[in-house]
Amino acid sequence: MNVEEMRRAVAERAASLVDPGMTVGLGTGRTAALVVRAIAARTLAITGVATSEATAKLAGELGIPLATLDTVRRLDLCIDGADEFDPRLDLIKGLGGALLREKLVAQAAARLVIIVDEEKRVTRLGERSPLPVEVVPFGWTHTRDRLTALGVIPSLRVRDNQPVLTDGGNLLLDCRLALSIDARLLGAEIKALTGVVDHGLFLGMADTVLVGTPSGVEELRRDR
Ligand code: A5P
Repeated sequence: MNVEEMRRAVAERAASLVDPGMTVGLGTGRTAALVVRAIAARTLAITGVATSEATAKLAGELGIPLATLDTVRRLDLCIDGADEFDPRLDLIKGLGGALLREKLVAQAAARLVIIVDEEKRVTRLGERSPLPVEVVPFGWTHTRDRLTALGVIPSLRVRDNQPVLTDGGNLLLDCRLALSIDARLLGAEIKALTGVVDHGLFLGMADTVLVGTPSGVEELRRDR
């Protein structure tokens, strides 16, 4: 199985968790897009809550009815991708630029199912991926410097020589992490900085991680 086939396999498995009548958080990224397509193919009567404008557009094109997060108090399920997962099923998310809406939707869901290929597996967070941090544009260089003072190495995300803007109109600072970090402490320190909107550490949030491997889908569940 190549990576694309592994992603398709986990997407199919995740879509099979969706029952008629559910309200489902729809994640962002390549793997999450496959789930949106797999859910649409099942033609179930569900309501989706999109985690980005890109996902809302895709779901709309596929005929999935959407609700806004503010019209929904509780979602049955949220299915999303991730950039890294560790043995505790803690995650780094946000390389797709949607971490804030992803976190808001995931927090409102009874269950968060993460779908990844095995290249996302790490022994410690930050091993391969930078940690995305969403910051307001005003005074962003000061916020960057405060992040640096916490011991991370931030760089502004740019595309085509322009700063990338999130759906909320904010900037993203991709932060390289030191070899040994206490993710909970670092997450709290980053979140406490004025100018920071949120960060891509999703700690203790994933209930299930479905991992695409060459030999099939591996299901990991978080101990409670
Ligand atoms: C989007 O902001 C991210 O959190 C994605 O979930 C993450 O980047 C995974 O995307 P891929 O499935 O495209 O790797």
